[in-house]
Amino acid sequence: MADKLIIFDTTLRDGEQSPGASMTREEKLRIARQLERLKVDVIEAGFAASSDGDFEAVKTIAQVIKDSTVCSLSRANDRDIARAAEALKGAARARIHTFIATSPLHMEKKLRMTPEQVLEQARQSVRFARNLLDDIEFSTEDGSRSDIDFLCRVIETVIAEGATTINVPDTVGYAVPEQYGHFIKTLRERVPNSDKAIWSVHCHNDLGMAVANSLAGVHIGGARQVECTINGLGERAGNCSLEEVVMAVKTRRDYFQLDVGIDTRHILAASRMVSQTTGFVVQPNKAVVGANAFAHASGIHQDGVLKARDTYEIMRAEDVGWSANKIVLGKLSGRNAFKQRLQELGVSLDSEAEINAAFLRFKELADRKSEIFDEDILALVSEENLSG
Ligand code: KIV
Ligand code: ZN
Repeated sequence: MADKLIIFDTTLRDGEQSPGASMTREEKLRIARQLERLKVDVIEAGFAASSDGDFEAVKTIAQVIKDSTVCSLSRANDRDIARAAEALKGAARARIHTFIATSPLHMEKKLRMTPEQVLEQARQSVRFARNLLDDIEFSTEDGSRSDIDFLCRVIETVIAEGATTINVPDTVGYAVPEQYGHFIKTLRERVPNSDKAIWSVHCHNDLGMAVANSLAGVHIGGARQVECTINGLGERAGNCSLEEVVMAVKTRRDYFQLDVGIDTRHILAASRMVSQTTGFVVQPNKAVVGANAFAHASGIHQDGVLKARDTYEIMRAEDVGWSANKIVLGKLSGRNAFKQRLQELGVSLDSEAEINAAFLRFKELADRKSEIFDEDILALVSEENLSG
């Protein structure tokens, strides 16, 4: 049996950290329900200690959601961790996600702590969290820019204290796929008892490589949890996009050899919900959920798709929630696509000569108009036009 890849969605926490994307408790709850419908394994509902509003949002989500684990972020200190545990009370399945930065830059300039102090704080916080809950995730913030020897010591320590998931974030999107994949692999090989925890990747998209880096962390590194957001929402250039990483693993199961539990038919609705709630528009050419993701405009492609969809489609539009793929009629379209659209519109022309005449008119119109709508075609084949 293939391993399962755990999908950890952080739209409601890291996604919300995107400037201008803050959400009300009601909005967060609506999205959490959609994530549960998607069968996301873990929903990071917020950062309970960051504000009373976020505390209430995590608490509400923890009480309502039954099928996904609900998680709250917390810094590595007792106050944050206790607040997270308080918000998660009553959840069917709960996780505390605690983190501290481990890169030389962050430790020296941001935390103003020595590596030994960071190590000690990591140890204490996981010990404290583990007394409150069984499911504890520990993240080494700016992990990809951390010294590997130090990272090994920190991770060994928190596993010994009972951390059940180890997440190594590429916090600033600095990693490149092969290097990041090997970094995770080396950590797993070097840390004693590394198999006592599930390894996780959390990649930002500053260089446009969040999905590629996450997949390398999984395929090369052996991580079995991916942290991601709907539409790739998140700080700066965003996080790894859930829809892309899930469809990559499903479509290329031959390569990744992993199962994902996501009900992909709800992906498009989730994307639209997040876009409408935050006001962040999805670009038309966005993979999987963009308006053009399953649209075919060139004549050669349209002809191919009409004969066999998999000539130019590697996944089914319907599998991610679209009602169908889309043949866009325009100046690049061929006779075959035009004829097919006539049939769909219930127009039957008497002879091939009539079809040819209508097709010529269509081509003339398409030279003047970038997209031809069904109404244009109906007008083209109206009686006056055909006889004129
Ligand atoms: O990007 C990051 O490092 C994070 C951690 C808090 C997990 O979001
Ligand atoms: Zn992040």
